[in-house]
Amino acid sequence: MGKKIVVITGSPRKKGNSFAMTDAFIQAAEAKGHTVTRFDAALMNIGGCHACETCFKTGKACSFDDDFNLIAPVILESDVIVFTMPVYWYSIPSQIKGVIDRIYSLVVGGKDISGKECALIACCEESDRTVLDGVRVPMERTAALNKWKMVGEVLIPGVLNVGDIDKTDGCIQAAALADKI
Ligand SMILES: Cc1cc2nc3c(=O)[nH]c(=O)nc-3n(C[C@H](O)[C@H](O)[C@H](O)COP(=O)(O)O)c2cc1C
Repeated sequence: MGKKIVVITGSPRKKGNSFAMTDAFIQAAEAKGHTVTRFDAALMNIGGCHACETCFKTGKACSFDDDFNLIAPVILESDVIVFTMPVYWYSIPSQIKGVIDRIYSLVVGGKDISGKECALIACCEESDRTVLDGVRVPMERTAALNKWKMVGEVLIPGVLNVGDIDKTDGCIQAAALADKI
């Protein structure tokens, strides 16, 4: 049966490497009958968590009403959350980190977000795969804490410029990720 998938991207490069993999994943997931809603966090207005713990007190997930409040209800209703991003300075880009941090509002607000599936698509310039640990480890731990099942990871090192992903099997792996959902 088709699942509801929310895809949250973290790159500002519309023709970049992680977007190419994202597109390949979405195309494959939709072909399998899943419903995909995509948010490009870097192209939206999303700040960080204020840790005010007034989540859902104003009727919306976050009292600081920016575009995160568009994403929050879709996360809540989704069966699967797919995060896609490049590595920035051995870590998660700030553009998508704001979304991840503010998933805290769903926890503080007492929403049951357990039992979802989760997946990660990431890339970096350096050829050393351990560079990807900077996004892999926090996402795996976040998934574990939230009781999400990490169903797949596509981790592609060695891509710097737009188009470099085409010299790898990253898009093939991203499409194959749809088979794991
Ligand atoms: C601000 C910034 C920081 C980056 N930091 C790293 C890094 O620490 N390690 C690395 O291997 N690549 C780093 N990169 C390179 C990107 O991860 C790489 O170009 C990636 O392919 C970009 O993906 P995108 O095309 O989806 O944006 C950085 C790029 C930028 C713009």
